[in-house]
Amino acid sequence: MQKLIINGGQRLRGEIELQGAKNSALPILSASLLCDGESILYNCPCLSDIYSAIRILNSLGCRCSFSDNKAVIKSGNLEKFEISEELMCEMRSSIIFLGAILGKSKESIVSYPGGCELGSRPIDMHLDAFRKMGVDIKEEYGKIICKARDGIHGAKITLDFPSVGATENIMLASVLAKGETVINNSAREPEICDLAEYLRKCGAKIKGDGESRIIIKGVKKLYGCEHDIMPDRIAGATYLSAAASTGGEIILKKSCINAMESFLSVLEDAGCSISVAGDVIYLRSGARLKAVKSIRTMPYPGFPTDAQAIIMATLLKANGTSIFEENIFDCRYKHIDALLKMGADIKVRGKTAVVQGVKRLYGASVEATDLRGGAAMVIAGLSAEGKSTITGLRHIDRGYENIENVFRNLGADIKRTE
Ligand code: EPU
Repeated sequence: MQKLIINGGQRLRGEIELQGAKNSALPILSASLLCDGESILYNCPCLSDIYSAIRILNSLGCRCSFSDNKAVIKSGNLEKFEISEELMCEMRSSIIFLGAILGKSKESIVSYPGGCELGSRPIDMHLDAFRKMGVDIKEEYGKIICKARDGIHGAKITLDFPSVGATENIMLASVLAKGETVINNSAREPEICDLAEYLRKCGAKIKGDGESRIIIKGVKKLYGCEHDIMPDRIAGATYLSAAASTGGEIILKKSCINAMESFLSVLEDAGCSISVAGDVIYLRSGARLKAVKSIRTMPYPGFPTDAQAIIMATLLKANGTSIFEENIFDCRYKHIDALLKMGADIKVRGKTAVVQGVKRLYGASVEATDLRGGAAMVIAGLSAEGKSTITGLRHIDRGYENIENVFRNLGADIKRTE
C-alpha cells in the first residue's frame, strides 16, 4: 500500500505550472469518439481517470495513445456500443460516455454507475433527457439498455438542477442528432465551455455555453481536431490553498483566472494578498489567516463544491469561526473525521460545518476516502506540526498529477513510500 509521509510546518514557496483539467479532459475524450478522424488533445493530465477513459475508448474500437500529456484518438465507426461493467466501475464519470455512444451508434449498453463516496449520485436527469430525444431505455440487472430506433432527435430539455454531467451528456448525444436541442437551466461550468469549444472545432453547431441555455443544432458529421485542455481550476485552488495555509508565497503559471474568481475572493477574505497578470496568479500569505464567515457551495459561478474540503483544511488554523454550507452533494464532509484527528475543531449539523480556528494542528495517520477530501488531508498535513501519514492515495491520484513532486518543488517535506 502506498502512503504519503509529510513532515509538516514548511512554508511553501516557489512557482509551478498548473496541470490540465481532469473534468474537462474526461468529457472531451468521450466526445472524441463522435468524430471521424484523429483528435489530438494537448495538456491532458496524466491521471488514473484519464487512463480509464482511454481504456473505454480502446474497448469501443477507437485507437488511442497517451504520453507526455498528449492524447491522440483515432475514431471512426464504433466496433462496440457496450461498455463492460468492469470499465464502468473504474470511475463514476464513465457515464458521460453514454451520450457520446448514443450520438454515434444510436444504441448503447452500460452498467449502472451506482453511488460513490460523495453520496447516491443518481443519473435520472441524464436518462430523462435521452428519452425526450427518442431513446428507449430499459434497466435490467444493473444494465442500462438504450436504443433510439428512429435515430436521435433534438428536444427541448429543462434540467431540474444545472447538473454538469447531464448537460455534457445531452450535448454529446445532440451534436449529431436530427434537429435542434435546447438545454434550459444548463450547467455553466468552464469545463462545459471547453467541451463546447472542442466540439465546435470538430464541426458542431453549439451556442450559449457558459450561460443557462445551450442550443445545439445537429450536424451530419464531426471531424477530429487539435485542442488544448483548459487548466485545472481545482488543482490550482489546492496549490494556492496549501501555500496560504503554510504562510507561503507561490506563483501559479498557466492558470485560469476567470474560472477561479469565487475561490480567489475567499482566499483574499482570509487575508492573502493575490495579484494576477495574464494567466499567472501570485499569492502571498503572511500572518495567521482570518476566518471566512460564510462559504456556500453552489453551481458555477458560485463557490465550487470541489474546493470545499480544500478551503476547509486551509482555514483550520484561521483566527475566528468559518461557516460552511455544502449544497451540491449529500456526503461531502467525509474528510472531517481525519481533520479532527489532526486537532481541528469542526462541528457538523446537516449540511453546515462550523470550523473554529485552532492555534495548532498535529500530524496523524489518516486515510483519504475521496479525491478532494484526500487533498484536504495533504494540506492539513503540510501545515501541521510533526509527521502525517496519508493512505488511500488511489483517490488522490485520480485528480492530481504527481502531487508529492509538486509540493516537494515548493519546499515541502513530503514523500511517497510503499
Ligand atoms: N444529480 C441528480 N440527478 C442527475 C444528475 C445529478 O440528482 O441526473 C445531482 C447529484 O446527485 C448532485 C448534483 O446533482 O447532488 C450535482 O451533480 P452533477 O451532475 O453536477 O455532478 P457530476 O457531473 O456528477 C461533476 C464533476 C464533479 C463535481 C460536480 C459538481 C466531473 C467528471 N465531475 O460531477 O467533480 O463535483 O460536477 O461541480 O466533471 C471532482 O472532480 O472531485 C468531482 C467530484
